[in-house]
Amino acid sequence: MLQDKRILLILTGGIAAYKGLDLIRRLRERGAAVTPVLTRAAEQFVTPLSVAALAGEKVYRDLFDLTDEAEMGHIQLSRSADLILVAPATADIIAKMAQGRADDLASTLLLATDTPVMIAPAMNVRMWDHPATQRNLTRIAGDGVAVVGPNDGDMACGEFGPGRMSEPLEIVAAVEGHFGPRPLTGKHVIVTSGPTHEPIDPVRYIANRSSGAQGTALARALVALGADVTFVTGPADVAPPADVKIVAVETAHEMKDAVDAALPADAAIFAAAVADWRVASASDQKLKKSKDGLPVLTFAENPDILAGVSQLATGRPGLVVGFAAETHDVVAHATAKRARKGCDWIVANDVSPETGIMGGPENAVILITDQGSDPWPRMSKADVATRLAQRIANALG
Ligand code: C5P
Repeated sequence: MLQDKRILLILTGGIAAYKGLDLIRRLRERGAAVTPVLTRAAEQFVTPLSVAALAGEKVYRDLFDLTDEAEMGHIQLSRSADLILVAPATADIIAKMAQGRADDLASTLLLATDTPVMIAPAMNVRMWDHPATQRNLTRIAGDGVAVVGPNDGDMACGEFGPGRMSEPLEIVAAVEGHFGPRPLTGKHVIVTSGPTHEPIDPVRYIANRSSGAQGTALARALVALGADVTFVTGPADVAPPADVKIVAVETAHEMKDAVDAALPADAAIFAAAVADWRVASASDQKLKKSKDGLPVLTFAENPDILAGVSQLATGRPGLVVGFAAETHDVVAHATAKRARKGCDWIVANDVSPETGIMGGPENAVILITDQGSDPWPRMSKADVATRLAQRIANALG
């Protein structure tokens, strides 16, 4: 899909540079030619030798390398590619791009180019959240630079939050999306994600351990393929994706209303972990301790949003996908669930605590369709999302 595309890949200095090595491999697997550029700081994290070996090309490192000037000047180098990709992109290179500085080879190439530029930021969460970084990002987005990620997650510095570089396959999907064809262009896809919170009283609620990671990754992958995504999210741990219409809800009832309001859609993907029950009559005042005994909570059943949409007589999306989190007999339970709910596919997974899947970075799913069950190898949630988005694109094609 990237056959004959030439990508100038600039690696800047962050620990995520090691993922840049895998990125080179993934881009080349898809037929792209990769010309690597390393900043001085990047060389502290990956060696020019390993980068050159994986790229199968010379590594450009220094603005004043006269041999390079004889072979190819930096102006020509900056314009020889179909896309300039900066991955990882540090806060520093983003600041230089925003200011238009040109004090090393990487920043000079970025200033001299008339080629489209895409960046995959990677930095500490505080650096990402800093108003200066956000200001710089707004400015370069205004200059037409495409931004992939970053993701939420554990960081090498020991903190947690947005700032982790997108996974190589997510970046590849964005690069493929850039060159098109974008098979989901013009398609509206609803994605539900995250947990729901069901109130007990104004300060207490019933929740579950869903982080929203898989739904968020899926929304991102669908956007990369060109979809218009309405992202209906409960109170998730991870930040929502960019370039989607976000509808933030708390309860299952609010989620149902938001999904109904978002219809019609070409596809609806129900990745949210919706509470099955709510407290029948949540108190509008904080429950107090009392000598008269403990409070008794009575439950009422929540609407099944997936089943409702799957069974719509008119206006049913062409493809309805549910998720099934199981702890045993995964295929049997998920197959029965597919039939009971009336959806087209079920993405089933084993969430027994020992798998580390709930709230973790990886997933091992089994796709249940009318063709039977198809187990996928364990992979990152981002890779599951990319693969699923491609399957969705094929089904809607
Ligand atoms: O029945 P169960 O909760 O196991 O089904 C899981 C699937 O159903 C998920 O796709 C989830 O998003 C969806 N669901 C829903 N509304 C509910 C309960 C589950 O949409 N009330």
